[in-house]
Amino acid sequence: MEYAIETINLVKRYPTSSRLATAGMPRGPAARGNVGGFGAIIDAVKGSRGPFIEALKGINLRIKEGEIFGILGPNGAGKTTLIKILCTLVLYDEGEVYVNGHDPRKEVAEVLKNLQAVLPESRGFNWRLTGKQNLEFYALLYGLSDADARERVNYLLDFTGLTARADDGIQRYSTGMQRRLLLCRALLRDTPIIVFDEPTSGLDPASAGEFRKMIIDRLAKDEGKTVLLSTHNLQEAQELCDRIAIMERGKVIASDTPDNVRHLVIEDRMLRVAVSGAVPGSQEGLIKDLEAIKGIRGISTEIGTTGNFQSLSMRVEKELDLAYVLRLLSGSGLVIRSVNTEEPTLEDAFNLITGHDERKGPRRMAGGF
Ligand SMILES: Nc1ncnc2c1ncn2[C@@H]1O[C@H](COP(=O)(O)OP(=O)(O)OP(=O)(O)O)[C@@H](O)[C@H]1O
Ligand SMILES: [Mg+2]
Repeated sequence: MEYAIETINLVKRYPTSSRLATAGMPRGPAARGNVGGFGAIIDAVKGSRGPFIEALKGINLRIKEGEIFGILGPNGAGKTTLIKILCTLVLYDEGEVYVNGHDPRKEVAEVLKNLQAVLPESRGFNWRLTGKQNLEFYALLYGLSDADARERVNYLLDFTGLTARADDGIQRYSTGMQRRLLLCRALLRDTPIIVFDEPTSGLDPASAGEFRKMIIDRLAKDEGKTVLLSTHNLQEAQELCDRIAIMERGKVIASDTPDNVRHLVIEDRMLRVAVSGAVPGSQEGLIKDLEAIKGIRGISTEIGTTGNFQSLSMRVEKELDLAYVLRLLSGSGLVIRSVNTEEPTLEDAFNLITGHDERKGPRRMAGGF
């Protein structure tokens, strides 16, 4: 079967910054006055043989036609690198990559007929032109005829809800509108695959929600496109994606549907019990009794102003008999005021697999940021 996107043992190495700082710099007195000359470029290329940051360390992904696939991962995981390889902006070093069967290293034109990327940092719009004029400019650049360009631009402005502001200079566009314009530009060529790097970063919650809705309803459902996106937003991944891959330090460490990922990683549920009537000092014995029960871990208590504990939280295995736990609590003289169980969230799973602990702040990644 041919996949929309397939990577096999994909490896990408970047020269380290120390190398970059020296690579390409003219050396010796003879080179003075020749900054940026051809020799410097050759040097830069030679310099790239130096020590490397391995941004991707053997990525295997298979994305099916029509899927919405999310790539999650902390800063520096390699998400943007992967996306840039797919849209031919970065060359990979080892492995294989196919975009509808075409190799981005060898068949650039074919790949770009099949895949367009929306990168948040991409520029290239003329700030003195209107949104519509900018799109018409790109449509002509992409080889559309005058009539086709006009029709496609109007369709896309409508598609992304920009028609009312189409004739405004784009310096007046908000971040959300600029993002829509970038999407219009990517859709000019009507490719079957669209790739987004952090599509909703920098958007307010309402605009982000609208943008997500547009991806699901219009791109995936109406147009049947394959969508690959990277995100830091776990809620977004859960809401949007058919399947996700969690990346860390250049590796895919989990890949499945969002529901399967969270249940694969965390079998447990969280049990929270609010109590009253605790006798001061009694909690230690109770916690020991709870800890002795197989299938309970990570017990924590919340202490009230009087020094008594008011609630208990713990992770419990799915099959554990909760009635037994509650009998133990009430048997120790506690009054049970409320009981809550929560399924693990994708965020719990993500934090567990990436070792990212909210209380300590984001973990600094080697070679990241
Ligand atoms: N042009 C470059 N030159 C050298 N190293 C780079 C370059 N681009 C990225 N890197 C390094 O490659 C690794 C992966 O970076 P990448 O931007 O792909 O991560 P990311 O997952 O997109 O992170 P973020 O969430 O911060 O956007 C990082 O260690 C980064 O420092
Ligand atoms: Mg990135």
